[in-house]
Amino acid sequence: MNECPISKIAGTGFAVPDKILTNQDLEKIVDTSDEWITSRTGIKTRHIVSDDVENSDLCVEASKKALDEAGVRNEDIDVIIVATVTGDVNFPATACYVQEKLGAVNAAAFDVMAACSGFIYGLNIGNGLFIANNVQNVIVIGSETLTRITNWEDRNTCVLFGDGAGAAVLQPSTGDKGILATYMKSDGRLSYLLMNPGHNPIKEYFDHEGKKMLPVINMQGREVFKYAVRSMEEAMYKVLERGNVSINDVDLLITHQANIRIIDTLAERTGINREKVYINVDRYGNTSAASVPIALDEARKKGLLPEGSLCLMTVFGGGFTWGAVLVRF
Ligand code: UT7
Repeated sequence: MNECPISKIAGTGFAVPDKILTNQDLEKIVDTSDEWITSRTGIKTRHIVSDDVENSDLCVEASKKALDEAGVRNEDIDVIIVATVTGDVNFPATACYVQEKLGAVNAAAFDVMAACSGFIYGLNIGNGLFIANNVQNVIVIGSETLTRITNWEDRNTCVLFGDGAGAAVLQPSTGDKGILATYMKSDGRLSYLLMNPGHNPIKEYFDHEGKKMLPVINMQGREVFKYAVRSMEEAMYKVLERGNVSINDVDLLITHQANIRIIDTLAERTGINREKVYINVDRYGNTSAASVPIALDEARKKGLLPEGSLCLMTVFGGGFTWGAVLVRF
């Protein structure tokens, strides 16, 4: 355990597009039903970005709220980290567009690609920057426009995803509040189970049925489900051990919001009281890197993370990547 946490979360915010797509809307697009989607995933609605909004716009909206709460001026931001797999362009980093739009002229800006785990990877990296870089304000953003890389003809995947952004401002920790323990892990051998090959000019990718993958989200859901449960459980125990606390000490568990059945299984396996598990997958679907920071801001604004409370966040995503962070508020 860090005897003195290095950094703390000083402000959070989130943004989602106005347009909502319901399960009933999806019934008109593919062969599916509200009953199937609700019982197999827990999702009821998801927010869909309109053509005139870029990923970086969602980042900026979420960031402004987080910066406001932390009392940080844009010119005082030292580092901007954006976790995303759906950046505005292939390069430069979406974080650079966020820098421009915020007028954060004194910042360094870069992206992190760890799929749905990106925000937790970003928090981990951001926390580390306080050790050696003399920074005061780091903003970590998880933001996705996943519906732009969704295959709207594939009922296996198109019902799952939504768009949005969440942000957290890190500042030097004072006292015992802040990031107590972190964990990150990857397994590139399993990349083919969840990927977007994009427009690769030299190589074609094929799925488990031998079909050529399109430049959209390709996922073998049942396999991903199993690894998601096992990996997030592992990550949870790692940070509990590193933080020298037990699951009973946790006041709020925020997992990646991909499927209510994954969240329920995790709660059951770890024995955490179900009332301590935050859930918003029903309203936003799977927003990848944005999922945990959206939930974190909602939970804080609802008063679920008062001063002194202990929050465990855990994620899993393409790569595979997974991880967890333990934070004292
Ligand atoms: O964000 C990164 C992490 N991602 C995840 O954690 C996602 C993990 N995976 C899952 O959440 C679930 O595996 C899914 C929600 C993707 C799928 O649920 P499942 O219970 O694993 O269903 P399945 O893929 O085994 O499919 C069961 C049946 C199939 O029909 P048959 O072959 O049994 O006749 C599918 O064709 O359900 C069918 N199906 C659907 N039916 C109606 C698949 N999608 C749909 C649909 N509507 N949208």
